[in-house]
Formats: sequence, structure tokens, C-alpha cells
Amino acid sequence: MTDNQSGNSLGTQTSPDGVTAAGVGPWGFTITGVGAALPDKVLTNHDLTAWMDTTDDWIRERTGISERRIGGSTSGLATEAARIALAEASVDATDIDQVILATTSPDYICPGTAPAVANELGLQCGAFDVQAACSGWVYGLIVANGLMLQGMNRILVIGAESLDRITDYHDRGTGILFGNGAGAAVVERSETGGGRLLSWDLGSAGNLVHILYAEHGDVLKMDGKEVFRQAVTVIQHSAKTSLERAGLTIDDIDLVIPHQANVRIVESAWRKLGFSMDKTAMVLERTGNTSAASIPLALKDAELNGRVNPGDTVMFIGFGAGMTWASAIVEWGGQ
Ligand code: COA
Repeated sequence: MTDNQSGNSLGTQTSPDGVTAAGVGPWGFTITGVGAALPDKVLTNHDLTAWMDTTDDWIRERTGISERRIGGSTSGLATEAARIALAEASVDATDIDQVILATTSPDYICPGTAPAVANELGLQCGAFDVQAACSGWVYGLIVANGLMLQGMNRILVIGAESLDRITDYHDRGTGILFGNGAGAAVVERSETGGGRLLSWDLGSAGNLVHILYAEHGDVLKMDGKEVFRQAVTVIQHSAKTSLERAGLTIDDIDLVIPHQANVRIVESAWRKLGFSMDKTAMVLERTGNTSAASIPLALKDAELNGRVNPGDTVMFIGFGAGMTWASAIVEWGGQ
């Protein structure tokens, strides 16, 4: 049995160090624009108490969530976030070479949602979905880096979800967690430097599919305790791997932008890694768990609050159903 088939499965699916070192590229890899979109309709913890045996205190204490958003569509929210990112980057949509959309709640089972978003933006470039659940946006970022190795210059990496379509808001385990939203980033390659991708790590453990999944036409089913336990383990593993590959220690990181699932997952992993919540971007309280959208939503919030500045070392780290996990360390270029 390989590590990847074992119970907590911190396997060998990540790229070898040699590939990582060569694969990050000598050029600039800069996020020049970030956009966020949330639907208008707010579903608070208090709202849930109307039909669920729960309390606002319990949900906030056990998860860190006060409210989440519902409504809208994955393509609609993705397009809105992408337009904001493009405007901030001062990039015309027609200059985009590729649209990568990470989602676990696409508009249709088939086709993917990315072509619809590209079409809304007036684009006919390549467009495809990434289905890596809550790690999807970081997977997308690494795929974007790979496409830049092939010569592409500007790529939209979007995370968008309408999880209300696969969430049972009467279920005490999942209904308290999930919400809708989208975040988008314009990632640009430049020969003159700017930001840089320093290292990355991708992994999966398909033997854990049963702890968080949705069958066709059904809602999300979850073993919350096991997801919690596995998440704390894989975050630490992926963070350590990316740090090692970049030749950095946790003290070198200025800001971590983790997947926003449950604040206690992050706190627990950080305690073990010796990392500070003060250097962590969190929007979970206002958004709930928005799966692939959560990291770019937290990035936008961090940007608006002046928490990402040129030269900063920023770590993105995702984990979720699959299980999948992904981390990337970026020297922030920005504009
Ligand atoms: N409101 C009030 N009480 C609740 C409740 C709710 N929504 N859900 C469970 N409880 C009660 C249980 O009945 C149990 O009561 P008991 O001790 O009297 O039997 C107690 O709270 C503990 O239940 P448990 O299921 O062990 O809760 P938990 O501490 O594991 O918290 C989650 C449940 C879902 C919040 C938690 O497991 C979690 O967040 N897991 C990770 C999920 C996640 O992040 N998924 C996405 C990953 S990308």
C-alpha cells in the first residue's frame, strides 16, 4: 500500500522537487487584478434557527460563521467577479488567453461553466472547469502557471459556487456551513519580473471520497468530524511541503490565505505549525464556506484592507472534498 492509499493519505501525488523548481518559471507571475461577487440574499444563523435545532452561538463557536449568501448562479457570480478583476488589472477582456473556472457547483453537469463565463465576457479563448472542490482555485492557479510555460500571457483564474443548489439547509451538519460566491484573479506573465510563484504543492486522497460528496441530483453528505481531522492534517502537510520547496520557513510568510471552511480547522493547524492567526486572511464569518470561491474572496478582502503589498510572501492553501489539497507560495507583485 502506498501512502496515498492509506487512511490519512499524505501521498506522493505532489510534484517532485526538481519539477517544481523548474516549473515555476523564471518570469514574473503577477496577480494584477482581483474581483469578488456575492449574491444579495443573506442567510444568517438566526434565520436557520427558524427551522433547525441550532443556535447562533453554537454555529459561531463551532465554525466561526455568522452568515452566508444564497442565490445567483455560478456563471453569473463568476462573470461579475471576473469583470471586477479585469477592471482592476486594466486588462481588456479580449487580452485574456484562457479562462479557468474552479467550481464544484457548475451551472450544468455538462457542459462546463467556464465557456459560458468566457462568452459573457465576449471571449472565445480556451475555457474549462477545474473540479477539485475547495482546493480548486489553487489548482487553477498552478494550471495557469503551466499554461504560461506554454507561452500564455494573461489568464483569468476564477473560483465560483452556487452551493445552495446542493446544500440541505435543514441538515445541521452541512446547512450551517455552505454559501454562494465568486472570486476571480487576472494572472499575468511578465518578462520583467514583478511577482513570482515560488513553490506549489498539489495532492489528493481519493480513498476519502466518502467523507464529503454529493451524488447526481442529491445534496452534500458529510462526516464532519472526519473531514475536520483530515483537513487539519493535510493543511500542515501541504504548507510544510510548499515552504520546503521554496526554501522558506513559516516566519517568512507575511500572509496566509486559507480555504475558509471552519475557523477551528485553521486555528488547529496553525497551532501545530506555529503560525499566527494575525497573519491569516479570514472572511468566513460573513461568507460561510464558499468552496472554490473562498480563497479569492479572502484575497479580495485582504487586498481591500491593504494586507497584500508588493514584495510580500503570500501562501494560498486549500483543502476539500476528494480529498484534495493544494498550496502555493507567491511573492506578491500586484500593481
Ligand atoms: N447546532 C447545534 N448543535 C449541533 C449542531 C448544530 N448545527 N450540529 C451538531 N450539534 C450537536 C450534536 O447533536 C452533538 O450534541 P451531543 O453532544 O449532545 O450529542 C454536539 O453538537 C456535537 O456534535 P458533532 O457532530 O460532534 O459536532 P462537531 O463539533 O463535529 O461540529 C461541524 C460539527 C460540522 C461543525 C464540524 O464537524 C466541522 O466543521 N467539520 C468540518 C466540516 C468542513 O469543514 N467541511 C468542508 C470542508 S472543505
